[in-house]
Amino acid sequence: MEDGSHLLRTENEDKTNRQTNKMTTSNMNCTCSILTRSIVMVILAFLIGRLSVKMDALCHKSPLYSSSKQDIPQTDRTQVTNIKKENVVLITGATGRTGSLLYSNLVEKGVSVRALVRSVDKARDVLGCDSCDSSEGIFVGDVTRPEDLINAAKGVTTVAIAASASPGISKDEQMAVEFDGVINTVAALAQEANRDGGSIDRLRVVLCSSMGTSTPRSGNDHGYDISDILHWKLNAEAFIESAGVGYTIVKPCGLVDSDGGNSTLLVGHHDTLLKGDHYSIPRADVATVMSQAVLTRNEWLRFDLCSKPGSPTTDLEGLLESSKWEWQK
Ligand SMILES: NC(=O)c1ccc[n+]([C@@H]2O[C@H](COP(=O)([O-])OP(=O)(O)OC[C@H]3O[C@@H](n4cnc5c(N)ncnc54)[C@H](OP(=O)(O)O)[C@@H]3O)[C@@H](O)[C@H]2O)c1
Repeated sequence: MEDGSHLLRTENEDKTNRQTNKMTTSNMNCTCSILTRSIVMVILAFLIGRLSVKMDALCHKSPLYSSSKQDIPQTDRTQVTNIKKENVVLITGATGRTGSLLYSNLVEKGVSVRALVRSVDKARDVLGCDSCDSSEGIFVGDVTRPEDLINAAKGVTTVAIAASASPGISKDEQMAVEFDGVINTVAALAQEANRDGGSIDRLRVVLCSSMGTSTPRSGNDHGYDISDILHWKLNAEAFIESAGVGYTIVKPCGLVDSDGGNSTLLVGHHDTLLKGDHYSIPRADVATVMSQAVLTRNEWLRFDLCSKPGSPTTDLEGLLESSKWEWQK
């Protein structure tokens, strides 16, 4: 005779089996969902990886990096942008005819510019400042007095030298402006950089010199003997080349006040351009080339600059590049 306990046991066993099956199914469901999530995450990671490679390629095509021959890592790219932002430029001779054009050119480009001027009134007239003091980046000083340059040079990364002697002053004064003035200016920058605990490696000098220094003793300008000026300009160039700072030395032919951007710009060395039919260049074009050198922060460039009628030169970075010697390129 069968007792009911068997049924009860069987029923209990069935119940237990059903529960076990249910748990197994739920475990399987759980395993499946973990697996599905893992697959989805792997696919997502793959897609994100592909996307970032594409973004990287796009960044390399942007103009900021197009001139770079190197593959700059992400962190260094930020540094490149910061260096451009942190480029503080001092212009000496900023109220002069070329200096003032360079000043407005750089201001228009949003560069942080300071001006060393001899006269506040002239600065107000020519540069359009209001208070015309250090709060507006205007510093009153004379390049022949080193102490006048100290405040203006603090934190400066690039100096553009457009100060120059007029042929009408004494020969000693010409030397003081053209040679001592350049030494004082570069020394102020370098000493301030050292005092800050920084390095002179980041300093750049853009000098407006002159063509005609190959035979400086033969210089003549509208009846004035400019041979001493050219002699001291050449010495100033030699000083800069030995000063341990990056430089661009622009040596223009005869300056005129016509509009810039209308002619073909020519670069050369050792006054060979003077042997052609080209003797003049607008100050505005010289200022534009100097502005490009300030922005590109070139090093070790020294070249003659003139112009001729023809299609206007627009690729200024290319023009600077073409001024290099074959072995520098
Ligand atoms: N003329 C040409 O045909 C020719 C040809 C080739 C190269 N260059 C060279 O090109 C450059 C620019 O010529 P530019 O005609 O445009 O110049 P500029 O109009 O004569 O200007 C010269 C600037 O130097 C400043 N300056 C003179 N002595 C100074 C001193 N002791 N301390 C501080 N600043 C002083 C003047 O100040 P103020 O404004 O207060 O007077 C002026 O702003 C010069 O180096 C020049 O020699 C000229």
